[in-house]
Amino acid sequence: MYNFQYFTPTKVVFGKETENQVGELVKACGCKKVLIHYGGGSVVRSGLLDRVKSKLDEKNINYVELGGAVPNPRLSLVYKGIELAKKEGVDFILAVGGGSAIDSAKAIGYGAANEGDVWDFYDYKRKAEACLPIGVILTLSATGSEMSDSSVITKEEGWIKRGYSSDLCRPVFAIMNPELTMTLPAYQTSCGCTDIMMHTMERYFTNGGNMEITDSIAEGLLRTVMANARILMDKPDDYDARAEVMWAGSISHNGMTGCGSDGGDWMCHKIEHEIGGMFDVAHGAGLAAVWGTWARYVYESCISRFNKFALNVMKVEDTGDDKKNALMGIEALEKFFTQINMPISLKELGVEPTDDEIAEMAEKCAVACGQEGGSARKLKESDIKEIYMRAR
Ligand code: NZQ
Ligand code: ZN
Repeated sequence: MYNFQYFTPTKVVFGKETENQVGELVKACGCKKVLIHYGGGSVVRSGLLDRVKSKLDEKNINYVELGGAVPNPRLSLVYKGIELAKKEGVDFILAVGGGSAIDSAKAIGYGAANEGDVWDFYDYKRKAEACLPIGVILTLSATGSEMSDSSVITKEEGWIKRGYSSDLCRPVFAIMNPELTMTLPAYQTSCGCTDIMMHTMERYFTNGGNMEITDSIAEGLLRTVMANARILMDKPDDYDARAEVMWAGSISHNGMTGCGSDGGDWMCHKIEHEIGGMFDVAHGAGLAAVWGTWARYVYESCISRFNKFALNVMKVEDTGDDKKNALMGIEALEKFFTQINMPISLKELGVEPTDDEIAEMAEKCAVACGQEGGSARKLKESDIKEIYMRAR
């Protein structure tokens, strides 16, 4: 077990109709003007945005609004948000939506609270010293951004998708009403369940510092998400299944399932981010499309973890041969992805990159990892390129 810090300052307000508490929660932050930030319009169509505004009105809270955060949220909108926030004297950002709206809000929060170009943080040039406080009303269980320290932004020039992590952006509060996720298309629900699983799996397939309590939480979380993802395939309005998945999403990326480990592998995320940046795919689907290829490429360097995963999570029958078990576990998870209509190759994802595009993604990915990344197995640019090739 390695030393660790566990920091989760976000106040979670979970359950039915909790969005009605938004006025009190914002008021308690003592701010003067709120920027309500949202995505492409689902919160307008569902009536949630109007409900939120009326709750802010009731508490005499001033606000401006900015919609338009798209999946793989863009830097250009972040710049627009920063300009608006500065012009209007905004001192609090309320993100209403999924990970993209939240991440875009975090980036606006950095840009409004620091001098200079906000992209510098995502380009690893310097660190942020402040961030405007962020509040969240979550409408999609997936990224865990409602409690996480990260945000992921895509710069259109060169289509570079990069994440930046700092405790400064962890939301002050996260309102989580599972009912708000019932309007999601089935595909987005499955993408979300995949992403949630991957945030724990990235922390699970490591070669250092693992502890039993963390493993038990991680394995339980993975089994719970799979069971409830299956329920949601048939019953998208099942409140309890929505609630299980929603809370799993937060726990999976607030650090809980990585305590004591070496920080995690994270190569599937790095590999996917380049695909998302270049081809604009849904993040969870991109992860499912590369996971099996990555797993088969690295499992022999992390055999005890893949064996444990196969037995405790995928419940494969123990053959007495760790390697065989590991491969059966990988196959079983791919089968699950297929059952929830997730792709297990780039082709199924609808992406057919050329050799040149693969070389470009591998090069960018290696830059994002500092030339070498991963814990299950250390990967260099040539390995990453091979994984893209094999995932086609
Ligand atoms: O934009 P709107 O109109 O709201 O529609 C969205 C969008 O089209 C829709 N949606 C969201 N809630 C809905 C809904 N539709 C109907 N009913 C609802 N209740 O779903 C679509 C996808 O939304 P988006 O926010 O893009 O999805 P997600 O939450 O999966 O976020 C993905 C982004 O987060 C990043 C990903 O890379 C990607 O850019 N990530 C952020 C992380 C973090 N900050 O910690 C970690 C993750 O690993 C991930 O990288
Ligand atoms: Zn993710």
